[in-house]
Amino acid sequence: MTLEAIKYDGTQLSILDQLQLPHVVEYIEIRSAEEGWHAIKEMKVRGAPAIAIVAALSLAVELKALVTDGKLSANAEEVQLLIREKLHYLTTSRPTAVNLSDAARKLEAHVSTTARGSESTGDSVASAFIEAAARMLTDDLADNQNIGKYGADWLVQDTAGTGKQEINVLTHCNTGSLATSGYGTALGVIRALHSRKALKRAYCTETRPYNQGSRLTAFELVHDNIPSTLITDSMAAALLSNKERKVSAIVVGADRVAANGDTANKVGTYGLAVLAKHHAVKFLVAAPRTTIDLQTKSGQDIIIEERPAAEVTRIKGAREGCEENDSIATVRVAAPGIDVWNPAFDVTPSALIDGIITEVGVVERSVDGSFNFEHIFAD
Ligand code: MRU
Repeated sequence: MTLEAIKYDGTQLSILDQLQLPHVVEYIEIRSAEEGWHAIKEMKVRGAPAIAIVAALSLAVELKALVTDGKLSANAEEVQLLIREKLHYLTTSRPTAVNLSDAARKLEAHVSTTARGSESTGDSVASAFIEAAARMLTDDLADNQNIGKYGADWLVQDTAGTGKQEINVLTHCNTGSLATSGYGTALGVIRALHSRKALKRAYCTETRPYNQGSRLTAFELVHDNIPSTLITDSMAAALLSNKERKVSAIVVGADRVAANGDTANKVGTYGLAVLAKHHAVKFLVAAPRTTIDLQTKSGQDIIIEERPAAEVTRIKGAREGCEENDSIATVRVAAPGIDVWNPAFDVTPSALIDGIITEVGVVERSVDGSFNFEHIFAD
């Protein structure tokens, strides 16, 4: 059974509450854009593609309820305005991942085209939005499966000459079913390698401060019976220099890839890319085209979200042997009074990235060190 982080049936939306994972598996219902905003801000749902999908679907269920209750304006323009305002509000939840603002821009354009039709009504504008939001869920799943396939092809080919039959991969943060509509991006590549019997072992970092690696990626890897090992973030250099464990590649996700290939992803990614270069290990970013932001020239223009100090000074877990909601406790792990800096993401310069795996193929860094994405947006 595959993990499902987002459940949507056209009327109801529920999400797997990631604040309680891996201790408690509980779905919470999202009934409005406001509830969607809070779920994203508080990281009950997280991961670039998942937050864009949940934002869109949260507004879809709100509109659907208004239609059912006969409370939606009959005027197409009024409904278009309502959708525009709510989309704008949703994009203020988290700034770094471009998928959210990209989805809002596309949905707004789609709704505006429908509203301009001579026969359009409030209901028809709402329906156009609801259908487009639902398509995001199915499109994202198909994109991830293609990312998995292209990434696995690339890695198998890259290691073919080395005599290695099975590949060890290191990943960071959580990029799996919990961060997307299903399957995942970087974790999708690991899933694809595993299903081809080309994966020896996946290593995942703990990913402090929020522990997306130890809580979420480890949960997915164990759930899927993928041979895997957890390390703390500080063990990555030791792992890459370990002759027995032989990591062939680091594969990570992305929150925003700038036009020159600079990539914002979970804090710690940049350090891993530097380590990869030093150890001649391939460094790949797996991301759908919706994460590539051609309007942002370089990593310097990417806004990096800073999160509360409490995420660094405290840690959340379940008491040993207890796997229920009331067994989850938060403990302080830092000296009271210490100043804290908590950037949620960092930017990896394109020069450290060997390739960007998308749903239409792998874009490799050219010999002059740059990335050219034009051909993958040609269709
Ligand atoms: O703060 P998060 O958990 O939302 O950060 C998630 C990441 O950085 C992921 O690597 C990225 O969004 C890609 S998810 C397919």
